[in-house]
Amino acid sequence: MPFADRLPAYLARVEQALDAWLPPVGCEPRRLHQAMRYAVLGGGKRLRPTLIYATGETLDIEPARLDGIAAAVEMIHAYSLVHDDLPAMDNDDLRRGRPTCHKAFGEAEAILAGDALQALAFRVLAHDSSLQVSDTQRVAMIRQLSEACGSLGMAGGQSIDLAAIGRRLSVAEVERMHRLKTGALIQASVMLAVQAANRLEAAWRDGLDHYGQAIGLAFQIQDDILDEEADTETLGKTQGKDRQQHKPSYPAVAGMAAAKARCRQLADEAIEALGPLGARADALRWLAGYIVQRGS
Ligand code: IPE
Ligand code: IPE
Ligand code: MG
Ligand code: MG
Ligand code: MG
Repeated sequence: MPFADRLPAYLARVEQALDAWLPPVGCEPRRLHQAMRYAVLGGGKRLRPTLIYATGETLDIEPARLDGIAAAVEMIHAYSLVHDDLPAMDNDDLRRGRPTCHKAFGEAEAILAGDALQALAFRVLAHDSSLQVSDTQRVAMIRQLSEACGSLGMAGGQSIDLAAIGRRLSVAEVERMHRLKTGALIQASVMLAVQAANRLEAAWRDGLDHYGQAIGLAFQIQDDILDEEADTETLGKTQGKDRQQHKPSYPAVAGMAAAKARCRQLADEAIEALGPLGARADALRWLAGYIVQRGS
């Protein structure tokens, strides 16, 4: 069965895990928990969880062991989107086809929902008994996720992004910004599943690490391309915001043709890196293609 046919079952798994880990509707303080659930549930491609399950297929890890990691990474991602949309950052009104969290709940509640989602992600990693790893492995995973979303990862990349508004960046600088703000969490998604595997040859680990790095950068370049070329309805977020806000996006800095070529080159590089894993990594190969061909 092709990976695309297995995808709905993985999406259902992560949806269920997210629902189960989030505080229930009606739990006090109600408005905060409503905002958290609004930000996480019912939308989004769930790319990072999908990468986790696909890495699990590659390494023969039961999906049930990966549900907690998938939920934790998606919570970090959802928190990053809530804060990214705030007036002090990208000032967006539309996300996943709905009003952004701060439009629906107010800025203060949106800030707190982001804060609490980040904390909950680490609670899940610390608690999740179905993960079935040693305490040492668990601490290494907590460390991996914290590095990916901290000042040397996502938050650092977001800081560079804000400081770069209206400035001219080199292509190398844009790539660094993209690797941090988006690539780090995507690479960590792959590597968290790798950490859940008990023993792994170095060549496999290195191949998966390289794969995660390449598709992480490709994903943000494609996001920049779509910001220019797709439409608001398909994106579920306002089209043309990067240009409007004078962001040094990849197409703005390198040109659209070069952005598309770089994206394809990174997908090829990612697929090449999977060489040592053979056919067992076919799900990841399919995802590399999806990332650079997606339309939303
Ligand atoms: C959008 O991420 C923000 C970036 C890091 C580029 P996604 O495109 O994965 O957003 P959702 O989760 O599908 O809404
Ligand atoms: C966001 O990049 C990266 C994050 C870490 C959230 P963008 O600002 O380009 O994401 P969108 O286009 O708003 O989804
Ligand atoms: Mg942004
Ligand atoms: Mg944004
Ligand atoms: Mg964008």
